[in-house]
Formats: sequence, C-alpha cells, structure tokens
Amino acid sequence: MTRIDVRSAARRLRDGRVVAFPTETVYGLGANALDERAVGRIFVAKGRPSDNPLIVHISDERMLAMVAARVPAVARRLMRRFWPGPLSLVLTKHPAVPRAVTAGLETVAVRMPDHPVALALIRAAGLPIAAPSANRSGRPSPTTAAHVRADLPRVMVLDGGPCQHGLESTVVDLTGERPRVLRQGAITLEQLRAIIPGIRVARATGQRPASPGMKHRHYAPDVPLRVFATRASMSRYLRAHKGVRELMLPSDAASAARALYHALRNPPAGAREIVVTLYPESGAGRAVNDRLRRASQG
Ligand code: TXA
Ligand code: MG
Repeated sequence: MTRIDVRSAARRLRDGRVVAFPTETVYGLGANALDERAVGRIFVAKGRPSDNPLIVHISDERMLAMVAARVPAVARRLMRRFWPGPLSLVLTKHPAVPRAVTAGLETVAVRMPDHPVALALIRAAGLPIAAPSANRSGRPSPTTAAHVRADLPRVMVLDGGPCQHGLESTVVDLTGERPRVLRQGAITLEQLRAIIPGIRVARATGQRPASPGMKHRHYAPDVPLRVFATRASMSRYLRAHKGVRELMLPSDAASAARALYHALRNPPAGAREIVVTLYPESGAGRAVNDRLRRASQG
C-alpha cells in the first residue's frame, strides 16, 4: 500500500467508479456520495437491494455540511467523543445527497472512519464517500483484503491489513424524538450511555424496521449456524448429532468480534452444521450476539 495506490484510487472515485478500502471496522466499497450514477455502481457490484441505504464517510467536519442539513447539539457531543471512529450518525440529509444513497429516506447516515488509509483516500478524493461493507450482499462483512477479492474479484482493493474491530460501526438515529441505536456495533451501548444516559436500542422486528438494513438477510455462512444460550446446551447438542462442529471463537467478546467474520467465512472442514454459544449481553458481547443471531437465521 503506497501513496500512489491512494492517489490512483482517489482518481477512480472522482471518475465515478468504485474502490474498496480498509476502515477500522470492516472493508468498505466506496463511491462518490454526491454522484447518483457512481453510487448505483455500488449496488450493482454487491448485488445489494436498492432499499438499503448507505453510510457516507467523511474526513473532516467541513464535509459534514455537504451531506447533512442540520447537526443537532447531541450529534456534536457524540462526534467530539467518538470521531474519528466506528459511530455512524443518522441526520437530516442535505438536498445534494442523491436518493440512491439514502434509499429515498430524508435522512443520511454519516461517519468519520478512524483509519489512516480511509482518511487519506477521502481527503485525496476531496469528496464524501458512500460505502457499504465490501461483501457480496448477504455474505459476512470483509475484514481483510482477501475477503473482498473473494467476493468482488473485479473491484480495486486498497490493502490495509486486517481490520482492528472486525464489526461494523454502531448506527445511532438522531432524527427522532429521542436518540436510538439502530445497529449495535464497535461502539458499545455502555460507551454511548456515558454520553446519552437514556439512549435506547431500536427493536429489530416489526413491520416497519427502524433501519431498512435490518430486514435483509445478513452474514450468511456457507454452512448453517445454530446458536445456544449456554455451553451445556451446546455440548448436549454436539453429542447427539453427527457432522456438527463448534465455531471456534476467542472467549473474550472483543477478540471474538475481530475473529467472527473470518470464522463464518471459513467454517470447520466437513461440517454440515456449525454451533456456537452466545456471549454475555454486555459490552462487545451485544454486537457479537446480534451478528451471530442474524447469521443463524434462514
Ligand atoms: O462500519 C461500517 O459501518 C461499515 C464501514 C465500511 O464503514 N459500513 C457498513 O455499511 O457496515 P452497510 O451498508 O453494510 O451498513 C449500513 C447500515 C445498514 O444497516 C443501513 O440500513 C443503515 O446503516 N443505514 C444507512 N443509512 C441509514 C439511514 N438514513 N437511516 C437508517 N439506517 C441507515
Ligand atoms: Mg453490510
């Protein structure tokens, strides 16, 4: 990874094409957030449903004014504490942001990534960059350049090594009556509560999902996954069924987050089903459990 790579990637973005790049959470598939046709290429490359909006990535606060019409005081507080970092804020969108980015919503999700390559790329392009995770739609998010190449062989990838968090950003909606967590992620609920004590987690079910992304199938491993609340119940199941293997993850939840998507992409050889025990519902465990539950559905 050289400066030349970043420069040529930035040129591609300005030309309206897509580039995959590392962030501290997962790899993103980026395009100029202000160019409807460029953004359309993201959906085509991923096979992504067009009703699932994208997160816009910025490198400085000046860019925020290009994509958000209003920035409430609570947003400023969260930005001061967590940016650059893995927190996406849903704000009222600026008219310049095309519908393709927001899937027709009047709101836009924005974050400033905490990764030197991502920041250098956005700065060099001089543009806000819309980027979903750089996986084929439905697959586990990529945490290495090799994962991106496996899913999107024709896309240019900036290789920044393995991602630090391994789980996507936390998404917080600030456009409703009260702040709500739409997606748990690398910033924990406990960290958010230190700034907004009353913050709630939006329920994942119901006719109208709070976040459009929540209704789509996600993180599908190649082999069916079954989750258990306790190790004892998982062990009983393992003893009673042939061809079932345990998905091996570190016992500490933050380390498990880093290892999770690679593990889901590389299930134990010969397994017809994989099983795992959920983590305690606190800190990084909440987001890991959320992804495990989603990966086990369907
Ligand atoms: O860590 C991340 O957030 C990574 C890296 C690349 O930044 N990106 C990522 O993007 O995970 P994606 O597209 O896989 O997930 C975006 C999530 C989806 O759940 C989507 O529904 C939600 O953010 N989202 C985006 N815009 C929204 C909006 N205006 N209102 C509500 N939810 C929104
Ligand atoms: Mg994704």
